[in-house]
Amino acid sequence: MTGWVLIAACASPEAPRAGVLWKMEDHAGPAIQARDAVIIGDLAAVHAAGAALEARGPVPGLSREDRAAIAGVQMAGARLSRVNGRADAAGAAAALAEACADCHVARGVAVPLEASGAGHSQPARAMWAALLSGDGAGWRGGAAALAAAPMPTDAEPRAWRDLVARVDVAGDADTSATRAAGYASVAIACQACHAAEEPS
Ligand code: HEC
Ligand code: HEC
Repeated sequence: MTGWVLIAACASPEAPRAGVLWKMEDHAGPAIQARDAVIIGDLAAVHAAGAALEARGPVPGLSREDRAAIAGVQMAGARLSRVNGRADAAGAAAALAEACADCHVARGVAVPLEASGAGHSQPARAMWAALLSGDGAGWRGGAAALAAAPMPTDAEPRAWRDLVARVDVAGDADTSATRAAGYASVAIACQACHAAEEPS
């Protein structure tokens, strides 16, 4: 709950934000770009988002723990900037989210669910937010909702069954590392429908 209080406090106009932390908008945006590019298998966009994250170092005045967390995010960005295939990209995006979670968990920050999205993309975003927040209950709830989501019209049923099977396994993950591995596995199933034919 502390996280929500923190976010509410930061959302108020008088709350000082800039300079207190490595600025949130500088990393949340490229992370979402990386995640969404992974789902559609756009490796060039994954590389660009990774490079943007790698370039964003700590702002002055941070604690040693926060600097270490940001270095972890930069390393995850560097990995994203060099992924050489879709499965690699899925793993790198999940590793990024795990690196983000290190700081959020230490500070008790709960990352809120994005407002946009419909159908099966909403529970997938809930899993992402839970992964970023180290929120086990949110993760299980998101996985249950995704597994129960209606198959999109005209989708390939085999690809949907594969997704549901991976989500069922991922939903049992109860550590940051196993949730990240589960997210990578699920993202590969998303790619089966959302990414164009793999070149070569
Ligand atoms: C050094 C600590 C730290 C790291 C690393 C970090 N965050 Fe945060 N994050 C916070 C704090 C503290 C808040 C809540 C306060 C705030 O919003 O400024 C937050 C809030 C958020 C929010 C809520 C919306 C917002 O703007 O407040 C999102 C989204 C978010 N982080 C995404 C990420 C992503 C994605 C990463 C990894 C690429 C990441 N964070 C890495 C500390 C961190
Ligand atoms: C079996 C094929 C299939 C799988 C697997 C699949 N999708 Fe989709 N997705 C679709 C189709 C078809 C649409 C368009 C129709 C619709 O929205 O129902 C769609 C729409 C979307 C949209 C755009 C609409 C919106 O809600 O914002 C997003 C984003 C999305 N999917 C993300 C994902 C993610 C993330 C995953 C993996 C967790 C995933 N999809 C898995 C077939 C699939």
